[in-house]
Amino acid sequence: MLATYLSDNKQRFLDELLDLIRIPSVSADAKFDADVRRAAEFVRDRLADAGLDNAEVIDTAGHPIVFAEKLIDPAKPTVLVYGHYDVQPADPYELWHTPPFEPTIRNERIYARGACDDKGQFYMHVKALEAMLATNSLPCNVKVMIEGEEEVGSEHLGTFVAANREKLAADVILISDTSIISNEVPSLETGLRGLSYVEVEVTGPNRDLHSGVYGGGVANPANVLCQLIASLKDDQGRITIPGFYDSVADLTDAERAELAKAPFDLDEYKRDLGIDDVMGEAGYSTNERTSIRPTLDVNGIWGGYTGPGAKTVLPSKASAKISMRLVPNQTPDEITALFKAHFEAIAPKSVHVTVTPHHGGLPYVTPTDSVEFEAASRAFEQAWGKKPIPTRGGGSIPIVALFEQELGIKTILMGFGLDSDALHSPNESYGLFNFYKGIETIPYFYSNYAKMKQ
Ligand code: BES
Ligand code: MN
Ligand code: MN
Repeated sequence: MLATYLSDNKQRFLDELLDLIRIPSVSADAKFDADVRRAAEFVRDRLADAGLDNAEVIDTAGHPIVFAEKLIDPAKPTVLVYGHYDVQPADPYELWHTPPFEPTIRNERIYARGACDDKGQFYMHVKALEAMLATNSLPCNVKVMIEGEEEVGSEHLGTFVAANREKLAADVILISDTSIISNEVPSLETGLRGLSYVEVEVTGPNRDLHSGVYGGGVANPANVLCQLIASLKDDQGRITIPGFYDSVADLTDAERAELAKAPFDLDEYKRDLGIDDVMGEAGYSTNERTSIRPTLDVNGIWGGYTGPGAKTVLPSKASAKISMRLVPNQTPDEITALFKAHFEAIAPKSVHVTVTPHHGGLPYVTPTDSVEFEAASRAFEQAWGKKPIPTRGGGSIPIVALFEQELGIKTILMGFGLDSDALHSPNESYGLFNFYKGIETIPYFYSNYAKMKQ
């Protein structure tokens, strides 16, 4: 029986996940390339152990993709599970209470980089599939594709998907890489924001200068960069780039009222983040600001002297990395072009600016009136005893829109993390409750879906 199998193998499931987490598969840093490959091979081997067929590591021009499948009957529907085994860099290491790649269990939580995003989350699928196969209860076909470049923009996965339509043919894509509201209030994300990411560089004089000899007489690129960035939002928190909001699909009052039903505790939110107040676009709630509205943020900024003590110097250059989260129907190409034109236009003559685009991604909204969504919703009800609340998410998984474009397949975002799991931050963690509850919920999705799809 499935439930018995899950409880009998609980400890081993966790031990395997911890072994996977110990591999520092940081996709952004070439220093970890061998570890990224080792993680791919580990995932392939566990998929084969779980009983899936044709488990393979597929090379790309970047990091490898892991693929496996179990095709039980061509007449039955096919689920394509997607996840990512790569993780964000763990820096700054000194802020971790325990080392990021030595997973530690405290307060019933796994602390490590990737504990939630996305190793802990995709590994639930590997174990749920193992349990269904071991107990002869997998009711439909399944394909599993776990990539190694999600955190750096999924560039080579995009190429792979376009070239492998047949191999990836499926009826629905199932992803656990998003959050629920809380362990008491399960939810199903119905949307992801898109992303446009640029790097800007402001150059002034041809060398760093003595800040006494030249200070006051020439443009300081660091000062100018700050002024330019500050001008990108007005005092209402609205982005000032001309045309930025032109293609934003506004929600109806009814849709906003529906989303506002999701419980949200502003005091708890502030307490968790250690802030005295929130900030954002006037006229929208915190939940709306972080999901259905686009935004612009500096992700990193540098220039000039940052070493110990005081060095009196005017920097020759200053730079920043800026992300813009997008909502339907904005596109990264459109928004990046608008940003570039505006940033170049507002730069004073005393400096020279360059804008370099990085990766981007399209926003996505999942249907909520489909058999697939209903199957997921019921799965939560069965495992959690509560109907999940539909929510719009703020993060991005750029490949999801591409799955729809290239393969014509819609996605179900059945994530089990919490926003407070500190994804991308020091001391990322994942609750053991969430790991095991996810493994319990996933098989319900399969049985509901196979029945409803008949
Ligand atoms: N799993 C996250 C995205 C996410 C987190 C969605 C929480 C919803 C709720 C994913 O791994 C991620 O971090 N994506 C990047 C995309 C980027 C690197 C192209 C992001 O959102 O910054
Ligand atoms: Mn993720
Ligand atoms: Mn991530």
